[in-house]
Amino acid sequence: MSIEATRDDTFTPASAPARPVIHPGWVRLTHWINALAVIVMILSGWEIYNASPLFGFQFASEITLGGWLAGALLWHFAAMWLLVVNGLVYLTLGILSGRFRRKLVPVRPGEVVADAKAALTGKLSHDDLSVYNAVQKLLYLGVILAGIVVVLSGLSIWKPIQLQELTALFGGFDAARYVHFFAMAAITGFLAVHVLMALIVPKSLRAMITGR
Ligand code: HEM
Repeated sequence: MSIEATRDDTFTPASAPARPVIHPGWVRLTHWINALAVIVMILSGWEIYNASPLFGFQFASEITLGGWLAGALLWHFAAMWLLVVNGLVYLTLGILSGRFRRKLVPVRPGEVVADAKAALTGKLSHDDLSVYNAVQKLLYLGVILAGIVVVLSGLSIWKPIQLQELTALFGGFDAARYVHFFAMAAITGFLAVHVLMALIVPKSLRAMITGR
C-alpha cells in the first residue's frame, strides 16, 4: 500500500473534526418550548380578545384556539405557565452562561442600518451562523423585551386587585389591556419575519434543531 493511500484512509468521515456547536441544548430546548407556548398564547389570546374587542375588528374563528371564551382561557392559562417557567430558565441561563453578553450585545445603530441595507439588497452574509448580525441582535433583544412586557401586562390584567401596583405601573386595567395587545402584535410581527428568515436561510433552522 502506498503512503498516499494510507494517508487517504485517515480521512474517513468518522475521523473528520466535529462541527462546532452553535446553539447548545438548553437554547434549542427552551427555544422550541417557547415557540409552542407563544403560538398557543397568541391563538387563544385572539379568541379571548373576540369576547371583548378593543378595536373595531375580530379575529376569524378559524385562526383562534379554544372555541369560545372559557375554552380559550384554559389554553391561555395552561400555556402561560410553560411560557413563564421556560422563559425564566432561558433568561437565567442566557445571563449566567454569558451567551447574551457574547451574542446579543452591543447593538450599534450604525451597524443596524448597514446590516438592514445589506439584507434588503440581498448582500447580507449568512456564512457564519455563530455570529448574529446587528438586525438579528436588535430583533432578539426586542422580542425578549416584548415577552417580558406581555407577561407583566398579562399578570396585571389577570390579578388587577392583588397586583394593583403593577397594574398602576401600566396606567390602570384598561391601559394594561392595550399594552398587552400591542406587545402581542409586536411578537406576532417578529414571528412573521423570523419564520420567513428561517425558511430563507434553512441552514439556520437546521442549526436550531441539531445545534450544529
Ligand atoms: C415557530 C417558529 C419558529 C422558528 C421556525 C424559529 C426559528 C429560529 C431559528 C432558525 C433561530 C436561529 C437563528 C440563527 O441562528 O441565525 C432562532 C433563534 C431565536 N428565536 Fe426563533 N423560531 C421560531 C419561533 C420563535 C418565537 C415564538 C420566539 C419568541 C417569541 C423566537 C425567538 C428567538 C430568539 C430570541 C432567538 C435567538 C436565541 C438565542 O440565540 O439565544 N423564536 N429561531
